Amino acid sequence: MSFSIIGTGMYVPPRIVTNDELSRFVDTSDEWIRQRVGVERRHVCTDETATDLACKAAVRALENSGCDPKELDIIIAATVSGDMACPSVSCMVQRRIGAECFAFDINAACAAFVFMLETAAGFFERGRARKALLVGAEQMSKIVNWEDRGTCVIFGDGAGAVVLEAGEGYIDSVLTTKGGDEVIKIPHFIGKSPFSTQKPQEPYICMEGQETFKYAVNAMCSDIRRLLEGNGLTLDDIALIVPHQANKRIIDLAAARLRIPADKFYVNIQDYGNTSSASIPIALDELNRSGRLKRGDLIILTAFGGGLSNASCIIKW
Ligand code: UT7
Repeated sequence: MSFSIIGTGMYVPPRIVTNDELSRFVDTSDEWIRQRVGVERRHVCTDETATDLACKAAVRALENSGCDPKELDIIIAATVSGDMACPSVSCMVQRRIGAECFAFDINAACAAFVFMLETAAGFFERGRARKALLVGAEQMSKIVNWEDRGTCVIFGDGAGAVVLEAGEGYIDSVLTTKGGDEVIKIPHFIGKSPFSTQKPQEPYICMEGQETFKYAVNAMCSDIRRLLEGNGLTLDDIALIVPHQANKRIIDLAAARLRIPADKFYVNIQDYGNTSSASIPIALDELNRSGRLKRGDLIILTAFGGGLSNASCIIKW
């Protein structure tokens, strides 16, 4: 027994920052960002926190599913930009939405949504859960260096959530880690230990863009091939591919290499930028509410990011 997704929700803060507005304080341009990344605007927090975003997305997913918070057996959240190391975002969501189940966070950076699904699958398999809430919530604006044009133009804030119910909708997954901090890192707080001899690092996202780009294209192509071959499927069997929204060119290149028409990939990076762990559940919520997904459709979710990690899965909608 695995699970099916029975509800989705998302929330982005109302403040929109366009590329033109960014260009006023960073050496960049609307043209460069659209062409090289595909982002047109992103939403950023002003007085909201990552927990606020998470709770709003969670409430919307619960409403969409018709599930009462008290029915939940687990809450799992993922973030690299939460408000506190402890309590976790999931614990704060549990209290604010009025749930009573246990809750914990995972960290797999931008690939976290698929890692959360895989983690939840274990609880369903063992009969420990009938209903679960998963939330990806990010306040990336807090951890980007707004003087670094190589990163600040890419990211955005937002949260996405799904409600799972015991079912047969989780078909297969592939998960990969290539550990190391050379390509992407977000150093943690500096601390004040009088004993430390370590050199403090700035707590901002630091990314080798081109290395990440290459890793991402290879990871997406190899994951999609592995999933199709491993399950005796062809691309014709797949209704839609929902990729992590990191760079439109990454998605286009993967599509070209796999000889898949670009419109088989869902893209919304133009509106939100890269919202890390929230990007796939935000996309799922848009697809769900627009009626584009039909019950029984096979969908591939594919994500990659810091770790380095990549993870993809096939779900039946
Ligand atoms: O979700 C986590 C995973 N993250 C990703 O998947 C990100 C993957 N990487 C990327 O999306 C791209 O590598 C970037 C968007 C980060 C950078 O794009 P690029 O096409 O790889 O640019 P580049 O780093 O090779 O830089 C090309 C030029 C450089 O100028 P010169 O040396 O050729 O004169 C950069 O200084 O573009 C310049 N540049 C910019 N120019 C205007 C870099 N960022 C900007 C900018 N505006 N924002």
